[in-house]
Parts: sequence; structure tokens; C-alpha cells
Amino acid sequence: MLAAFPLQALLSLLLALPLPLIHGPSEEGDPGAIFDRGDRQVILITGSTGGLGRETALRLGAAGHHILVHGRSDERGQEVVSAIREAGGAADFYRADLASLDEVRELAAQVRASHDRLDVLVNNAGIWLTAEEGRRVSEDGHELHMQVNHLSHFLLTHLLLDLLEEGAPSRIVHVASTAQRPIDFDNVMLEQGYSDGRAYAQSKLAQILFNHELHERLRGTGISTYALHPATMMDTGMVMDRGAQPRASVEEGTAALLQLIVSDEVEAGRYYNGLNVARANEQAYDTEARARFWELSAQLVGLER
Ligand SMILES: NC(=O)c1ccc[n+]([C@@H]2O[C@H](COP(=O)([O-])OP(=O)(O)OC[C@H]3O[C@@H](n4cnc5c(N)ncnc54)[C@H](OP(=O)(O)O)[C@@H]3O)[C@@H](O)[C@H]2O)c1
Repeated sequence: MLAAFPLQALLSLLLALPLPLIHGPSEEGDPGAIFDRGDRQVILITGSTGGLGRETALRLGAAGHHILVHGRSDERGQEVVSAIREAGGAADFYRADLASLDEVRELAAQVRASHDRLDVLVNNAGIWLTAEEGRRVSEDGHELHMQVNHLSHFLLTHLLLDLLEEGAPSRIVHVASTAQRPIDFDNVMLEQGYSDGRAYAQSKLAQILFNHELHERLRGTGISTYALHPATMMDTGMVMDRGAQPRASVEEGTAALLQLIVSDEVEAGRYYNGLNVARANEQAYDTEARARFWELSAQLVGLER
């Protein structure tokens, strides 16, 4: 079992080997077989201009896969694209601000214009505003953590589902967190009682509710979906820019994320804390809350039911 490996050993295995060598033989139809096909996989990682997304993009790109790099900055995006190309992989940059649902739709349209299949979608981009920045609202009128961390990815996933079905067996990974706070359906946009910690934690549990519900709705499609807390307080921009003390390296989080992208030992539909299956906040197992939140998310991003 991968989970039983010491972290350093797992890191070496996941990061040093070319991806097609990571797997043993897999049965046909096993989602774990995605990297055994021998062809180049198409992998979209939101928020891959920095931190965890960038590190994961570089690892997968160096293994020869086609990485769709995403972020808001052309300069940071092109830096990652160049690094992947220099390492022998293929990469393209897609610029979109997830604080705009129009830009999310445009991102999906651009991906669709260049690709007819997607093997992996990593919903990784995220924000954690400082207390000083206060409560912010997107141009669509939604509390900013809820929009960037959850709603934009809810919409993007829906707009790319047929490409993922084309790529099946394919995967979706939602980069969530152990910071989780139940959604209060009477105060989803935190008009009352806002704090940055509450907003962040609520949006991260929102991703896990989405993951668990999506898993049920995707049965039989060949698309597997996972939620992940990568590592606690990694040395990325999210932590360092607020002057907080890092407690983990980005490499640790990358190993956990790579496991969900490449391993055939992982369980679809589950929430992982690092390398291991974990129990999320109870609301993630409340099927009524999940269905209600799904309907609300669909309504907020303007998707037809
Ligand atoms: N750091 C931790 O310890 C930790 C712990 C648990 C979970 N996580 C989760 O891990 C994920 C990655 O975090 P990180 O630590 O790698 O953070 P990071 O270093 O701040 O990177 C965040 C990435 O998201 C992108 N992004 C932010 N806002 C965006 C927006 N409005 N539109 C488009 N892209 C946007 C950034 O792109 P730009 O270049 O455009 O800024 C960047 O590529 C997040 O979902 C976070 O919640 C992190």
C-alpha cells in the first residue's frame, strides 16, 4: 500500500520515476490505468502559476504529459510553460480570473477549442484573504472565497465534463483543506459574522460536499473524483504572503496530490488528508445538505438544472 510508505520514500518514488513506470499492471476499465496507456495525458491544473499547482505541473510536465497551466498572470504562466517545455513536456497557458464566472466560461471554451479530451482536472486554485482585506465580493456578487475556491470550479467542472468523459478513465481532484466549516444555508455569503478563517473554511468544505455528491452522480461514467488536504501550512504564497510560519513543504503536498492523480491504490469519492483517507466534517456525509448545496451552486453559477 502506498499509504504505508514513509513519506520520503513515497516522494522519491512519485517524483523521481517517469509516470508510466509508477504503476504496475492495471485491469482494463480501472481508473488507475490512466497513466498506463503510454500516450501523453492532458492535465488541467487550475492555479498552477504558483505553490502546489506549479510544483505539480512541473512534475507531471517533466514526465512528458501535456499540462494546461492556469492562473491570472501571463508572466507567471509563461515561466511555468517554459520550464515544462525545457524539461521535455508540453504545456500551454490559459489566463482566467476565477473571480469572474464569465472568465471561467471563457477558460472552458478555450480548453474545448484546443482539446477534445481531458484526462485529469485538478481544481486547485485558491485564496485565503487576510483579515485586513475584509469581506470581498466577486463581480458576480458572491463572497470571494466561495466563488474562487468553490463556485468557479463547480462551473468549470460542469463545462468540461464531456471532455473528461471522452478521456475516461479520467480523474478530478479537488484541492480542499482540513479547514472546514459547515455551510449555513441562511448565510452562505457570510453577510453576517464574516471572518477570513470562516469564509475560507466554509469554501473548502463546499469543495468536499461537491466532491462527494459528484462521485455519486458520476457513477458509471469512468470519471473518478477525489478531495484532498495536501499538507498543513505549506511554504507557498498562500502561507508566506501573510507572514505565517510554514509547517510543511510544498513537496509534501505535491506527493499527496500526485498520489491522487497517478496511483491506482486510491479510493474514488473519498476525502484524503495527505496520503491517507480521512473523515471530513459531518456535513459532507449529509446527503440532503449535499443535494441542496448542489442545487444552490448550480443556481449561483447560472447552470440549467
Ligand atoms: N498552503 C497550504 O498550506 C494549504 C493547505 C491546505 C490547502 N491548501 C490549498 O491548496 C491550494 C493551492 O494553494 P497554494 O498554497 O499553492 O497557494 P498559492 O501559492 O497562493 O497558489 C495559488 C494559485 O491559485 C491561483 N489563484 C488565486 N486566485 C486566483 C483567481 N482569482 N483566479 C485564478 N487563479 C487564482 C494563483 O494564481 P496567480 O498566479 O494568478 O496568483 C496560484 O497559481 C489552494 O486551494 C489552497 O486552499 C493549501
